[in-house]
Amino acid sequence: MYSEIFKNFNRVIVTGGSGFIGSHLISKLLKMTDCEIYNIDKMGYASDETLIQKSICSESKNRYKLINIDLVNAEDLKIAINDVKPDLVMHLAAESHVDRSIEGPKAFIESNIIGTFNLLQSCLSHYKSSSDNKNNFRFHHISTDEVFGSLGKEGSFNEGTSYDPRSPYSASKAASDHLVRAWNETYKLPTVITNCSNNFGPYQFPEKLIPVAILKLMKGEKVPIYGDGENIRDWLFVEDHVNALLQVAENGRISETYCIGGHGEMTNKKIINEICKIMDKIYIDNAPHSKLIYFVEDRPGHDRRYAIDPYKIKEELGWKVENPFSKNLEYTVKWYLENIDWSEKVLKDQSLIRRGLNK
Ligand SMILES: NC(=O)c1ccc[n+]([C@@H]2O[C@H](COP(=O)([O-])OP(=O)(O)OC[C@H]3O[C@@H](n4cnc5c(N)ncnc54)[C@H](O)[C@@H]3O)[C@@H](O)[C@H]2O)c1
Repeated sequence: MYSEIFKNFNRVIVTGGSGFIGSHLISKLLKMTDCEIYNIDKMGYASDETLIQKSICSESKNRYKLINIDLVNAEDLKIAINDVKPDLVMHLAAESHVDRSIEGPKAFIESNIIGTFNLLQSCLSHYKSSSDNKNNFRFHHISTDEVFGSLGKEGSFNEGTSYDPRSPYSASKAASDHLVRAWNETYKLPTVITNCSNNFGPYQFPEKLIPVAILKLMKGEKVPIYGDGENIRDWLFVEDHVNALLQVAENGRISETYCIGGHGEMTNKKIINEICKIMDKIYIDNAPHSKLIYFVEDRPGHDRRYAIDPYKIKEELGWKVENPFSKNLEYTVKWYLENIDWSEKVLKDQSLIRRGLNK
């Protein structure tokens, strides 16, 4: 019925499809393709199916299936891959929060490294045994710019940047990138890797910087910022990331890496101030919201600056961001204010904190 994209794929596995980026990806796949979509997710603390369920219509309801499996469980995973016989695997499942990785790195080693190893092994066995979809099969590994470490005042990361991870999270993601590259080189598994900068948008679990700030300001609570607030992140709207993933999965060259970023560099202090300005227009009584900002002791190993040079994906695949950062930020702030029920539901018994800052 739709089939605007992914005409060569029939069965797509998305791992981590119930997470922030995965659920936006599945929502788009349901709307823009005719593919069967299989979501392999362990349904951890950051998982939520609200967006996916909202995106399912009568036509697509039989094309989506959640497979509740932990990638650490190799046997269950192998059975699932053999059952689905995917022609595309988009691997997003990961423990993703840097502060949690500092508090408890083991889960990151298990999910991000062992989980990726198990998935590669299952996919390789499926790829080698299948004759029908061998020419089309692709394994798309979704990673982060944090594997490249920290930049000084000048320059940006690109596909040739050396790896220099500095947190347990980024080290585990770097290890997973290396495994994917090794399975491509050694076993000829057709893989492609993307490294993206910080995402924001609706349905992001409310312990990350932007949703935490919005929700705290809404409640009139103080908003903590690490260190001097001058750490720079390169922000990208989640739907722009998803569009890039679709482009790479379908048209990216096998064995290649693509860096994804939208030239959205901003200090943490500036982004919180921008959120305050938007809130000032909505909650005039509490204005100026910037009075709620305060600075706390820096996170250990806090990378100073990330910036992506997206030249390759723009030139080769024609990808670009759709809307300006300011419009996407305002949209996101309004979404959180209008969907407070969602945040309360997913937080359940978790307190509204930036982990590591609750001193
Ligand atoms: N959020 C960002 O800013 C960002 C930026 C660049 C890259 N990435 C990468 O994109 C991917 C998705 O990020 P996100 O922000 O949506 O993360 P998220 O934490 O919101 O979601 C991750 C999902 O993966 C699932 N998962 C984790 N470990 C699993 C396991 N062992 N088995 C099965 N499922 C498991 C979780 O249950 C969750 O639903 C990650 O690989 C992350 O490294 C994220």
